[in-house]
Amino acid sequence: MPSRTYDFVIAANRLPVDRVVRDDGTEEWQTSPGGLVTAMESVMRGRSAAWVGWAGIPDETPEPFTDDELLLVPVPLSLDEVTSYYEGYSNDSLWPIYHDVIVPATFRRSWAAAYEQVNERFAQQCAEVAAEGATVWVHDYQLQLVPALLRELRPDVRIGWFNHIPFPPVELFGQLPMRREILTGLLGADFLGFQRPADAENFLRACRRLLGARTKGDVVDVPHTDRRVRAASVPISIDAGGLRELAMSEPVQERAREIREQLGNPRTVLLGVDRLDYTKGIRHRLKAFEELLRDGRLSADDVCLVQVASPSRERVEAYRELREQVERTVGSVNGAYSPIGHTTVTYLHRSFPREEMAALYVAADVMLVTPLRDGMNLVAKEYVTCHDGPGALVLSEFTGAAGQLRQAFMTNPHDIGGLKQAIMDAIETPEKERARRMKALRNQVAKNDVQHWAETYLAALRAAPEKPAPTES
Ligand code: ADP
Ligand code: F6P
Repeated sequence: MPSRTYDFVIAANRLPVDRVVRDDGTEEWQTSPGGLVTAMESVMRGRSAAWVGWAGIPDETPEPFTDDELLLVPVPLSLDEVTSYYEGYSNDSLWPIYHDVIVPATFRRSWAAAYEQVNERFAQQCAEVAAEGATVWVHDYQLQLVPALLRELRPDVRIGWFNHIPFPPVELFGQLPMRREILTGLLGADFLGFQRPADAENFLRACRRLLGARTKGDVVDVPHTDRRVRAASVPISIDAGGLRELAMSEPVQERAREIREQLGNPRTVLLGVDRLDYTKGIRHRLKAFEELLRDGRLSADDVCLVQVASPSRERVEAYRELREQVERTVGSVNGAYSPIGHTTVTYLHRSFPREEMAALYVAADVMLVTPLRDGMNLVAKEYVTCHDGPGALVLSEFTGAAGQLRQAFMTNPHDIGGLKQAIMDAIETPEKERARRMKALRNQVAKNDVQHWAETYLAALRAAPEKPAPTES
């Protein structure tokens, strides 16, 4: 691999594609799961740049390869590192802390050590591919030590970091045994981007409380250095133009009609689309739906729910338990309410191509986005972009998207009574009013799409303060 050649490098835990080994032993590359890849794949498409990340399977190091101008640089993880750095520290220590401790966090010193080791490897790999003076854009909670490690290796490069998930209040963040190392790791960047203003404020407060750092507005004076780092919110988005074009295409429109037919042409199709993650409020959503059927406010004769739940982090205990609970509840709702010939809850535990996802959004009358906490939630933005006419978005207040999609039917998913009412309001609001709200939502996302997000982020990174301005004499 040519070294020090790329002016633009991004580092994320995963590459945009995962190497998948099928049951028959054959292998293929598949799009990686999650919002980060959805957003960054469209930003990076066609750019001459390098993407440093894990290829999704342990103990394998595929050679770097080029995909449409983009150099993909696989970072190897051993099976032990997948367990300790990825499933352990990233998804069983950090993930619960950063999502309001919806499930308890587990701390193990061996996981923390693996996190440091893997972050060092990512930093080295970035240092290897970045050209003199390059921009390196690091992503998400799995790589919070990379900015400072990379700065040590390559003081010449400009370093940005963006957090796709929430940044927790200091009262929760402070539980982390590695809290100071994480803050110091992040402060190696020139600019830190967060989803919501509240996330940036939480970070600034943590710097003051835990590092004794001075802050002025959104800028932190990095202790024991003459560096300053800005932390601000730049909410992520989707490739609205590309997705809209796909959704309006005749094959997708036709497929949406077919989906409704296959569902038995009900009056109302409700839709949920999530990774199968306890942050997404899937259990709360199913409970609300079940109670509406039980109360007779909804009838299985004219309403159905399609729940797409993509497999996620299946070896982590909390995810296993969630899957069991969700599948049990789906079974019991269907047993109690499904008419002969149709299922009231269609549960799809697998990945689909973009075209099929777009057709589902077009087909759905009401989209249920009910996370207990979510950095942004791109699904909400995808739905309003794809669906034409009188749809409705039920949206949790605890998503980053709630800060922008103000015309949604807002809900607190912890309040099951309130969630039931929000679902009923979404179904019963007159068509004209629903169409008006959907149009406003669609325009909001179209104006603030992922290209706008990337330009805003990179402009902030270029403009970020490096050293304090010399004092005028
Ligand atoms: P997260 O990043 O937490 O997974 P987001 O809502 O921000 O949540 O992003 C999820 C992305 O994954 C969206 O682009 C959505 O369309 C996509 N997605 C979710 N489930 C599936 C699925 N089963 N098949 C294909 N894409 C999916
Ligand atoms: O932003 C949330 C996130 O963790 C991203 O890093 C990733 O795109 C997505 O969720 C999927 O998670 P994982 O990479 O653990 O499958």
